[in-house]
Order: sequence, then structure tokens, then C-alpha cells
Amino acid sequence: MLERAISLAMSGRGRVEPNPMVGCVLVGPGGGIIGEGFHERVGGPHAEPTALDDCARRGNSARGATAYVTLEPCCHTNKRTPPCVPALIAAGVARVVIGCLDPNPDVDGKGVAQLKAAGIAVDMGSPTEQASACQLIAPFIARVRYSRPYVTLKWAESADGFISGVGGARRQISGPESMAIVHALRARCEAILIGASTLRSDNPLLTARTPNPTPHPTPHTPLRAVVSRGGDVPTDSQLFHTPRGGPTVLYSPARPPGLPEHVEHVPTDSLADVLTDLARRGTTNLLVESGGALALALARESLADRAWRFISPTPIGSGTRAAAIDWPAHASAAVGVDRLRECLNPNSPLTFETSASVDFRQLLAR
Ligand SMILES: NC(=O)c1ccc[n+]([C@@H]2O[C@H](COP(=O)([O-])OP(=O)(O)OC[C@H]3O[C@@H](n4cnc5c(N)ncnc54)[C@H](OP(=O)(O)O)[C@@H]3O)[C@@H](O)[C@H]2O)c1
Repeated sequence: MLERAISLAMSGRGRVEPNPMVGCVLVGPGGGIIGEGFHERVGGPHAEPTALDDCARRGNSARGATAYVTLEPCCHTNKRTPPCVPALIAAGVARVVIGCLDPNPDVDGKGVAQLKAAGIAVDMGSPTEQASACQLIAPFIARVRYSRPYVTLKWAESADGFISGVGGARRQISGPESMAIVHALRARCEAILIGASTLRSDNPLLTARTPNPTPHPTPHTPLRAVVSRGGDVPTDSQLFHTPRGGPTVLYSPARPPGLPEHVEHVPTDSLADVLTDLARRGTTNLLVESGGALALALARESLADRAWRFISPTPIGSGTRAAAIDWPAHASAAVGVDRLRECLNPNSPLTFETSASVDFRQLLAR
């Protein structure tokens, strides 16, 4: 049942952030499902009251039921929605099975304690279910426990491992199907980061351009961010002159003269500080679309969690090599003529399980 609750929770991807995705399944004393729900959008009702409402709508009573919840029910009131523990107690639920304890210090075991104090039996899911439930909310855990976003490195590489041509010349490496996936992924991340070298050579726009109507929700206009240590930042880059493409932030030691006023400048080149600042701005999912230098630096500083490698079947022969990041591929799928490999950083504190991520499963679903 927790697996079912996790699948339900995944329906909130792209709409609940910076909250976690959460699902809840209510099973009656007789063994059948009597109600279910998930957290649908930030500011909206949580999974537990949604499942209790569903239960009532079906004409069922939750008295004596077991609630399977992917995340420990909340018990604090310093947020927009009422706490879920009192709702479960009031409904007469007899047992709660939890996938992941809430890393939020306002909860973190207190929800379990309140449920137990009310005479409700509380169990954790199996180790496999717990790993899946924690992976589901890795971006939320990143924010509340490590004050940084969940970081996905993304790049396109040729069959022989190059990300650009000789002298850094821009090359179109991925096919149109891969580009469509990239735009959909951008649309479900709150921010995109590149290194200044990519700004100088590619002059990218970094907007989420998805078809309308899109098969995937596009709730975010991601923030676009650039980091530079040397400060050689071309202020005429199109990124800085397309305010409607999303807010833009430059991280560099000094504000370059001529940077448009609407572009925010943050005086740092520390990657840890950049991620902390992005988390403070509400970023739970960060997409890094840099070249190899920034990707490798983030990986070396233990500030990157997964990589999406779009691998073309065509060799380039020479050019700039992809970052030497050899995390194991846990998921792989054909995308047009390309192949997408999802690789999880085995040393990340945010790697809990090794199956395909929610993004991979949803964006690759056809
Ligand atoms: N195929 C793809 O998917 C893809 C994607 C993006 C880029 N590219 C290609 O990659 C090439 C650029 O590669 P790149 O590796 O030079 O670009 P990059 O990783 O995007 O940018 C590197 C720059 O980031 C800044 N930076 C800030 N902190 C850093 C740190 N701790 N470590 C390293 N860099 C830091 C520096 O800017 P300053 O020099 O200003 O200090 C550095 O030069 C271009 O040819 C571009 O076309 C390919």
C-alpha cells in the first residue's frame, strides 16, 4: 500500500514544490481501500485530509482504518494548512504506516509521538519502502536538512564523449525529442544554473519552452542563474535582456558595469553559498546546464545529486570532453535516436534508492 501511496504522491510533481510530494491510502478494517489522496499543489490540502475527504465521499468511515502515508503526518501550525495528526485522530484511524519521517525540525518524530499518545499504532514501512519514500522527497530533504536544492546535472554528449566542438564551438548534439524532455524538465525545476564560460560561448536563453497544451504541467518559470569567479560576464547576453523569461541572478565577486538593473547580483563565487541562496529563494530542484568545469566542481564539493546524460549516437571526433563523472546509471531509455542515462551520485546524502526517479518515469512515459 505504501507503494500505491508513493505513486499517488508522484502526481503532485511540479505543483507542490517547495513542499514535498505526499500520498495517503486508507485501508478499512476489512482490508479494502476506502479512500486515497495526495498533496496536489502548494498551499492546497495535504494528502491525509484529501484521503479522509475521499473516504467520506465514497460513503465510508475511517474508524478503525489503517492510513498508509508516504511522509510522517504533520502536527505543527506554523504553515498555511491545518495539521494532519488531529484530523487522523478525529477520524478514528487505528494505525498509521509511514514511509519517511519528516525531516522538518517542526515535525521530525513529533507527529509519530502525538499519534501514539492518542492510542494509534504507528509502524514504519519496509526498508525498501522507506528508501523509496525518502527518495520521493529528496528535494524537500535537501532544503530543510542541507539548506540547498536537489541538484541535477544535465548535459548532452556525443557518442565519443564530447559536449562541444573544437575550441568550445557550440554543437547541436541532442535530437528534438531530447530537447523536448529538457524543456519539460526545466519547467518543473525552480532554477537553472550555468557557468560563465557557457554564457560566453553559447549565449543561452534557458527558458522552459514547452508545447501548449503540454503533456506535462509547466507551473514554473525557472529562475536563471550564472556563476563566475573571474567576473568576465558579457552583459549583453540574451539571458540578461529577456526579463519575461524568468528572474535572473548573477553570482560573481563584483557587479559588472552595464548589467541591466532587473538582474540581481549576489556578491559570491562560493558554490555552497550559491546553492544556499537559491534554496533561500525557494528552489528545491536545481537544474545545472553548464559545461564540464562547473559540473565537476559541484560534484567534487559534494553539491550534486544526479546527472542526466543525453547521449547521441553520432561521434564528433574532437572538442570539449564531458565531465569525468562516473556515477552509475540507474535508469536508461531511448529518446528519439538519443539515449538518456540517469546516474545517481552514490555518495550524495540524498541518494536513498537506486531506481528511476519520478522525473525520469513521468517525463519518459509515453
Ligand atoms: N553539451 C552540453 O550539454 C553543454 C552544456 C553546457 C555547455 N556546453 C559547452 O561547454 C563549454 C563550456 O564548458 P565549461 O566547462 O568551460 O563551462 P561551465 O562549466 O559552464 O562554466 C565554467 C565557468 O564557471 C565559472 N565557475 C564558477 N565557479 C566555478 C568553480 N568552482 N569551478 C569551475 N568553474 C566555476 C567560471 O567562470 P569564470 O571563468 O567567469 O570565472 C568557469 O570558467 C562550451 O563550449 C559549451 O558549449 C555544453
